[in-house]
Amino acid sequence: MTRVIGILSGKGGVGKTTATVNIGASLAFDYGNNVVAIDANTTSSSLGLYLGNHKFPVTINEVLTGKASIADAIYAHPSGLKVIPSSHGFNGVVNNKRIKSVVNSLKEFTDFILLDCPPTLGSETRAGIEAVDELIVIANPNWASLLEAKKTIEYAKQLKKKVLGLVLNQADLEPEEIDKIKKALKIDILSVIPLDDNVVKSSDKRVPVIHLYGRSRPARAYKKLMEKITGEKFPNRGIIERIIGWFD
Ligand SMILES: Nc1ncnc2c1ncn2[C@@H]1O[C@H](COP(=O)(O)OP(=O)(O)OP(=O)(O)O)[C@@H](O)[C@H]1O
Ligand SMILES: [Mg+2]
Repeated sequence: MTRVIGILSGKGGVGKTTATVNIGASLAFDYGNNVVAIDANTTSSSLGLYLGNHKFPVTINEVLTGKASIADAIYAHPSGLKVIPSSHGFNGVVNNKRIKSVVNSLKEFTDFILLDCPPTLGSETRAGIEAVDELIVIANPNWASLLEAKKTIEYAKQLKKKVLGLVLNQADLEPEEIDKIKKALKIDILSVIPLDDNVVKSSDKRVPVIHLYGRSRPARAYKKLMEKITGEKFPNRGIIERIIGWFD
């Protein structure tokens, strides 16, 4: 059965798109799944850009406004991840509530569908939460970000969605601090990803850090997150196999 997972936060700029890219590419490349990642932020796009392109002839915006079919909006990343980007231009108001039917139409062909959701709990985000079954919430280790994350978790739970847990990003924390956050938000901490330049460098090169700098601290933290999501040990592949895999 397809798992439909939303990547959410509360506050903006905490690392949702970066997490979507790393989780999606890893589920596809390392774990061999058929994965589609959708940019559910139709007013401020970035997922496609993080994966190497900004000129998409058809995006989720055209699909949601009924101008194009979903098959025309799917683009392949070398990792095997399939991406449905959103538009960089303004071409009409989008009804995000339709995203749920887009998700449903993809289920037959996919193992995982990821939704990179917008920040805040506005209508776009609420439509994203409605469309998913499970959520991963990303926050930075400051109380403004954590309180917004808490609000998102509470809203999702009201809708009976399964909240897999919280990822603390750009975070270098002592175990006691992690425990304090866990207790305050009453949620599992899935992984603690450090603030690290390799994340930005890999993003500039349009390759997820989990693959480009696989031994770096953030990559190791992402691998731990992958094990929590899949319930399976991270399948580390040798360098030759890895290079061949990218060009397969
Ligand atoms: N662990 C990290 N270490 C260093 N920089 C990071 C880390 N994670 C993300 N970043 C950087 O932080 C910035 C914001 O990340 P990202 O775009 O993923 O956030 P977002 O939550 O998707 O933002 P928005 O709410 O605008 O959609 C990017 O420049 C990204 O490269
Ligand atoms: Mg984003």
